[in-house]
Amino acid sequence: MEKNRTLIIETSKKVGQEITLYGWIATRRSHGKITFFDLRDRSGIVQLVDAKGVVSSRDEDVVEVKGVVRQRPPAMVNPKISTGEVEVEVYSVLCLSKAKELPFQIDTDGYDINEEVRLRFRYLDLRRKRLARNLQVRSAFVRNVREFFTKNDFVEVETPLLTKSTPEGSRDFLVPSRLQKGKFYALPQSPQQYKQLLMTAGFERYFQIARCLRDEDLRADRGFEHTQIDVEMSFVDREDVMNILEEMMITVCEAMGKTIQQKPFPVYTYNQAIEKFGADKFDLRTQKEKEDKNVLAFSWVVDFPFFEKDKEGKWTFTHNPFSKPNDEYIEDVLMKRNIGKILTSQYDLVCNGFEVGGGSIRSHKKELLEAVFEILGYSRTQIHNEFGHMLEAFSFGTPPHGGCAFGVDRLVMILTNEINLREVVAFPTTSQGQASVMDAPSLVSQEQLKELGIKLV
Ligand code: AMO
Repeated sequence: MEKNRTLIIETSKKVGQEITLYGWIATRRSHGKITFFDLRDRSGIVQLVDAKGVVSSRDEDVVEVKGVVRQRPPAMVNPKISTGEVEVEVYSVLCLSKAKELPFQIDTDGYDINEEVRLRFRYLDLRRKRLARNLQVRSAFVRNVREFFTKNDFVEVETPLLTKSTPEGSRDFLVPSRLQKGKFYALPQSPQQYKQLLMTAGFERYFQIARCLRDEDLRADRGFEHTQIDVEMSFVDREDVMNILEEMMITVCEAMGKTIQQKPFPVYTYNQAIEKFGADKFDLRTQKEKEDKNVLAFSWVVDFPFFEKDKEGKWTFTHNPFSKPNDEYIEDVLMKRNIGKILTSQYDLVCNGFEVGGGSIRSHKKELLEAVFEILGYSRTQIHNEFGHMLEAFSFGTPPHGGCAFGVDRLVMILTNEINLREVVAFPTTSQGQASVMDAPSLVSQEQLKELGIKLV
């Protein structure tokens, strides 16, 4: 098929030639004896003209079309589509797959259609131009990110999905072990610990386009699964990491045709941000820039408090327990004093009102990391059980290091001017956590449970 196929986008260069097209019948308009069809493939749409009544296909049937490309008369040119100067005079159509009537329209933006129905038939929803474009933007974005890091001497490394629970402030998704009944893996909330272990291993510059899983309350900008651009570097200070990541963000976003409001990105301390905007994420765009839809207003936020009291009055970390306190607070951490005043090396990246990334320089010394966990109320035994592997690794020569992670879904959502993550994810869950298309979560058989040593209560 491919060998003889002409892509729709190429038709305008083939006036007078006989061609074979493949695609979906998109719409049909009858004008007396002549019927006009639109044919759609991945490259675009072209008008088919059927004067002989050879097309019996319905909308969304998949067809093979043979015909001749004709220049349209000037008055008939359609400037809205890239093939608008031509049309294809059809002389045969072969139906390769028939389509039932679709459950919803796909030639609209689709915002008004019930979400459950859209996601149950997501493969049809994705035929919609807006969603197809969103996924293309996502693909181009990730390709640009990968290119930047690869050019800058970073190594892409995959880390495990079946792992041990890591505290990232959310609930774990657990996976029962069949071989060790009664024990569980946790799906990673982020590759945090593994990327730090890669620094011990000597990789120095690591990145990964990493899937992360968190069982949290779903919101427009929060999913069970999300993808991070995950980065870690050795022998760096906070400013080194922020500089290269800023360069990455500017390079990639400008390559995507966006305008960056301020370069270098402004930097606010947490206190300044709270004072000025009342929050640690904020939108620096003017009303005009918001309407323009092409402007990205990035800003860093630094000098966050390391610890805060939770509902029960116990100390908890605000961002990441593996972060290093700012140098002037190291003594305080080691001595476990002035805890509420300790600032962390954490930096968050904000864009157009969203937190799009965050990271820090890490505590690469055993005593410092232990002291952090002690402040968090862990006993010696708990520290050993939960994080003994990190402390052990740090005792074999671990360079000073730091890194960051950016939310791909949130960034692509901003790049495409969507207001919900689901619009930039191919197969998202519903707001109730129901999987797209498939019936999940679902019941499993008694045999499966038995094999795992699990009884439902
Ligand atoms: P953090 O938890 O801040 O940091 O996550 C980094 C970025 O990932 C995005 N993000 C999400 N996007 C969609 N849905 C979610 N549920 C979700 N959770 C997070 C956000 C966020 O800024 N290990 C650290 C990073 C580090 O220190 O290197 C971490 O995971 O855009």
